[in-house]
Amino acid sequence: MPASQPLRIALMGAGAMGRQHQATIARQPDAALCAIADPGDGGQAFAAELGVPAYRDPHALLAAERPDAAIIATPNALHVAGALDCLAAGVPALIEKPVGVSLEEVAALVTAARGHSTPLLVGHHRRHNPLIGRARELLADGVLGELTNVTALWQLHKPDDYFAAPWRRTPGNGMLHTNLIHDLDLLRHLCGEIIEVQAMTSQRLRGLPYADTVALTLRFASGALGTLNASDTASAPWSWELASGENSAYPQQPDQPCYLLAGTTGALALPQLRLWRYADEPHWHAPLVDEAVTPDASTALDRQFAHFIAVVRGEALPLIGVEDAARTLALIDAVERAAARGRTSQPHYPWEA
Ligand SMILES: NC(=O)c1ccc[n+]([C@@H]2O[C@H](COP(=O)([O-])OP(=O)(O)OC[C@H]3O[C@@H](n4cnc5c(N)ncnc54)[C@H](O)[C@@H]3O)[C@@H](O)[C@H]2O)c1
Repeated sequence: MPASQPLRIALMGAGAMGRQHQATIARQPDAALCAIADPGDGGQAFAAELGVPAYRDPHALLAAERPDAAIIATPNALHVAGALDCLAAGVPALIEKPVGVSLEEVAALVTAARGHSTPLLVGHHRRHNPLIGRARELLADGVLGELTNVTALWQLHKPDDYFAAPWRRTPGNGMLHTNLIHDLDLLRHLCGEIIEVQAMTSQRLRGLPYADTVALTLRFASGALGTLNASDTASAPWSWELASGENSAYPQQPDQPCYLLAGTTGALALPQLRLWRYADEPHWHAPLVDEAVTPDASTALDRQFAHFIAVVRGEALPLIGVEDAARTLALIDAVERAAARGRTSQPHYPWEA
């Protein structure tokens, strides 16, 4: 389609995240929301408020509107079906994370997407954050030397009403699939592939059919070791949400890091981009000096959407396609196996078999 015309974007799922996408579309002159599909009355009312056509069924929307692209912000278990529908209709899609719930369904999507020219982007929007780009540059430049340890924290307190939506109380929709998928994806993006995990998980505080607290140990392909220590029932300031400034819905604790990357010649605290190094040779009696640069962190969703437009127009390849996102999901699967068996697990990639 001509670059001069705004892309007609359909929104599948107009809940909390879908509305953030609508706001992002509204800020972008190269695109316009053309319709909403949502079976819920809230989604229908939102479409009426915006003055765009409303559908209860995404198939009906795709057939009637023939959008240039779609954003899939439905509950996790509907992502794969939505993406397959978009592929069948030849409509490029931005699929919210996680790319799916089970590795089996995602393997089918990876296989389908491979044989298709219609691009799919997965909504791991943190990869689009400029500070992550800067951190990757520092790592690629070897500023930290050989990576030794990765420490990641995601500890905050979800309110009880977050769990009011029935889909959020079912397996595949807990902290691992919905939240830690972001952190594991960023750790892969920053530090390389994770090849082995050990996991202790607990679901004692919420009594829901998934973990509310986890302690994970990670082995990276580079040889570095890491931990991710997380809970959605903790009153604590250590999480990407509270530290990064990406989403103004969260109060900010900008001085508190959530990722600590240590290497033989330096260490980096994120999201502050605080770099620690010895002024001279590394020595435990010598003082470490630090410096910090903090680029604007509030633009990740806008940058993701601008990237999506470029992908739809054929000007860029997806920064994270379904296969890459499936590799992140494979870590959740490995964590669940490790926790169930009480021993280390390696991620499986069934689409490679
Ligand atoms: N990228 C992020 O940081 C981020 C943040 C929050 C949520 N999410 C993801 O966004 C997705 C939605 O989460 P949410 O918090 O908006 O949930 P939500 O419950 O607030 O909204 C989901 C919406 O989907 C609608 N829906 C249900 N079935 C549908 C169907 N078949 N077709 C179209 N719409 C349908 C529901 O009626 C509801 O309006 C989840 O996959 C979640 O993981 C991503």
